[in-house]
Amino acid sequence: MSVAEKVIIVTGAGSGIGKATALLLGEDKVKVALFDVNSSIFDIETQIKSSGGTALAIKVDVSSSAEVDAATKAVVEAFGPIDGGANLAGISGLGTVNLEHETDDAWDRVVGINLGGVKNAMRAQLQHRNPKGASIVNASSIGARIGSPGNAAYSASKAAVSALSKSVAREMGPKGVRINAIAPGITDTAMVGAVPESIREEWRKANVLGRLAQPIEIANVILFLLSDKSSFITSAIIDIDAGRV
Ligand code: NAI
Repeated sequence: MSVAEKVIIVTGAGSGIGKATALLLGEDKVKVALFDVNSSIFDIETQIKSSGGTALAIKVDVSSSAEVDAATKAVVEAFGPIDGGANLAGISGLGTVNLEHETDDAWDRVVGINLGGVKNAMRAQLQHRNPKGASIVNASSIGARIGSPGNAAYSASKAAVSALSKSVAREMGPKGVRINAIAPGITDTAMVGAVPESIREEWRKANVLGRLAQPIEIANVILFLLSDKSSFITSAIIDIDAGRV
């Protein structure tokens, strides 16, 4: 989808939606950089290379701006300036701690990764972008739309990612950079793997299609937003939730 030869960084590439996105970009001949704290990115790098693609995995904690800056510079040295970013690294609470009992440490960890991680990644991508233009996609969530009881830090961080994306899209539009966020509905990944079947069944019933999303169904939209096929879309929050909202 007109992404071939682009240089694109995927954060959270070690699992779920990020892994599906990295593999899809690898198939489409993107020079794809995989950032994650999980060493699984090295196996994914091997998988992409053994299918003829180009990949570079770097272990990065996205909540550290120093680590993100160093890794982004390493990508530029290896592949050239950045054409795109899919900033998907994130964590969720278990949905079992109400704000009245939340500790500062737990709050700061979720916000530091989900919001700070997107800010760190996006800023580094902008500083090292291709002067011809770039496209960035950030992970918001259905939680930003409808809230998540027992998981307020998560929802708040995701709503902030939406606002951050819109603000920076307005800053960077005149410079040829598009920035969008996606708001996936519940997607069948490790993030929701520990949730009991009774709750998963409630989630399935809550949307129009009566099922959870598969990671590839989110990755396909991310690919579209990273490609030139979406050239008039910026500052958008794209719901991918089978009518849940
Ligand atoms: P996942 O748990 O399968 O993958 C998340 C990845 O982020 C993991 O590989 C993890 O190691 C990595 N990560 C966590 N903290 C990190 C850090 N500090 N630095 C670098 N990497 C880190 O989760 P999933 O479902 O693929 O989620 C991807 C994104 O989509 C997240 O931002 C999530 O909030 C969002 N999302 C997920 C939904 C779902 O139902 N699964 C729904 C809506 C949004």
